[in-house]
Amino acid sequence: MKINIAIDGPSAAGKSTIAKRLAKELSYVHLDTGAMYRCVGYSALTNHVDLENELELEKMMKTMNISFDSNGNVFINNKDVSKEIRTNEISMITSKVSAYPKVRKLLVEQQQKMAENKGYIMDGRDIGTVVLPNAELKIYMIASVKARADRRYKEYIEKGMEADFDEIYRDIEQRDFQDMNRSVSPLRQAEDAIKLDTSDMTIDEVVTAIQKLLKEKL
Ligand code: DC
Repeated sequence: MKINIAIDGPSAAGKSTIAKRLAKELSYVHLDTGAMYRCVGYSALTNHVDLENELELEKMMKTMNISFDSNGNVFINNKDVSKEIRTNEISMITSKVSAYPKVRKLLVEQQQKMAENKGYIMDGRDIGTVVLPNAELKIYMIASVKARADRRYKEYIEKGMEADFDEIYRDIEQRDFQDMNRSVSPLRQAEDAIKLDTSDMTIDEVVTAIQKLLKEKL
């Protein structure tokens, strides 16, 4: 029997990495909802849409088709933007555009439609609270700002991207603030979510811990 799994938490807590690994091991589908918000940020930037204008953003979104392939690559109208959406600049823009109710409404509808069939692992900020309130397993994944900045820094260096540790640290703090204090669907732990602090855990340890929780649920 397949269920739906929601993984929420602040940026750079390792949600996507863990969700990807779990999906592979369980033959589930991973949906990285942050990538969808990033596509909106990226399109706004490349199409010079005013970030303060919610209606223009909504109009732009109606011309966008966001899709994924089975390797987790992300496409906007069939153009692969997997790499472009991961820059620090897009992270900051995305945190802004994701605060708009109209932006969230359009993406949440798409996400709910995708997960109508069970067998999804969705990661984001509002999966357990808004997108899939009936998900059978909800994880709220956290890690200290220091641990998250260390991981992001390493990731950028490994990918050959430019990285400034202090800037990454500050940006994570700022995004936490923005994600937790917006009026619509702020990041918060669902009442029935299980909190997992991954600051001192390896990827393998986190995957094993969630698999154990999943066994208990089934
Ligand atoms: O998980 P991420 O860092 O790729 O997310 C990018 C931004 O999108 C982040 O600022 C929070 C926002 N987001 C959101 O508001 N709701 C989601 N379900 C996923 C991401």
